[in-house]
Amino acid sequence: MLERDAEGRARLGGVLLESLARRPDVSTPFYVYDVDAMVGEARALAAGFDGRAHLICYAVKANTSGRIVRRLALAGCGADVVSQGELEVCLGAGVEPGKIVWSGVAKTDAELDRAIGAELLSVHAESVEEISRLDARARAAGKRASVSLRVNPSVEADTHASIATGHDEAKFGIPLAEVGPALDALASAPSLSLVGLSSHVGSQMTRVDEYVRAALVVAGLARDLASRGHRLSLLDLGGGMGIDYGEGCGARPADFVAAAIRAIEGVIEVERLLCEPGRSIVGAHGALVTRVVQSKRWSGRDTAGWVFVDAGMNDLVRPAMYGARHRIEPLTSGDAPLARVRVGGPVCESSDDFGTYELPTPLPELLVIRDAGAYGFTMASQYNGRALPAEVFIEGGVVTSIVPGVSAADWARARLAT
Ligand code: LLP
Repeated sequence: MLERDAEGRARLGGVLLESLARRPDVSTPFYVYDVDAMVGEARALAAGFDGRAHLICYAVKANTSGRIVRRLALAGCGADVVSQGELEVCLGAGVEPGKIVWSGVAKTDAELDRAIGAELLSVHAESVEEISRLDARARAAGKRASVSLRVNPSVEADTHASIATGHDEAKFGIPLAEVGPALDALASAPSLSLVGLSSHVGSQMTRVDEYVRAALVVAGLARDLASRGHRLSLLDLGGGMGIDYGEGCGARPADFVAAAIRAIEGVIEVERLLCEPGRSIVGAHGALVTRVVQSKRWSGRDTAGWVFVDAGMNDLVRPAMYGARHRIEPLTSGDAPLARVRVGGPVCESSDDFGTYELPTPLPELLVIRDAGAYGFTMASQYNGRALPAEVFIEGGVVTSIVPGVSAADWARARLAT
């Protein structure tokens, strides 16, 4: 988490961001991550299980940096993946296959084959049709695959519509009415073993209610299955625990699992509980440092004008895509008077707009966009011929790695090769 020292200088993982930004081998915009704090989040979440057998499957879609996945694997985490690319990162970073779950509504044949070959903890099936396809692929490979049913529990999460996934209109999960047919399909799928049930109802949830409701639906199904002789070895409660982007967050990640456990305790006894947090592990412990390029007088929206920075929606798409607010602050805060300004990026779209913020006048050279550790770099693109930002990793209070990103020159070469 970003901290300020007595002189108002922003630090992440103990490192002064101002000094980092002035290093000759680091250029803006760049992401910076406090990896130790991310591992700390996983440990804090584990406390929510209160000694029960569990596995935290880090949802790597939030941040796929090998360094982060490796450290989380060393801390005992598994992973939740949604593509072969993500799986290869996890296997390469040392996550044991027996700790990896794979969700997704449209896994290709090649992806199913890879999942079967790697002997993952569970392929989370999202349709009756996928069960039959997975069985055929496993049979052809002469293997057995462990499968869970990802259920759509019909629970509307109170979050942005684009990231609510457990309601009736969502494309995700097996609808409750299809669970019976899914079990029939499994009964005639000799190469599959049903190991569990899972659900994931949405991301950036700030209260536990919907997480608990989904857990109750899944636990009820597990009880029905148990009464029909299906012994499940795992119940996956999903991810979605929100973080505080500056507007508060009612519940801490551990509260979600603790509340779910309390709710399902009398319903079913499960061998092992899983969860799939992404954002809550990495989000608050990453930042995007950017440089002011240009200001522009403008009298709209009750502001003193635009401030254009060298980070754009291609580097951090969340504001453009979900109207998300990420606090934007000077790297060093002082007692200069503040002015309301609108912060924009260089990309040729009106949505490349980070929103209105109070910034000091005169404007500082460098700004920090906070809480950008999740769904920042992983969603970055080279739209408008822009570079992919560099990434800086901090561990043990020092910079342990600087990864340069992809330059605009390399982008141009790749396009010229077409
Ligand atoms: N499990 C499944 C099946 C998921 O679909 C997701 C996220 C997660 C776990 C992890 O959720 P988390 O703990 O990170 O909330 N790009 C969006 C978020 C998309 C989330 C997609 N699925 C954003 O920037 O807000």
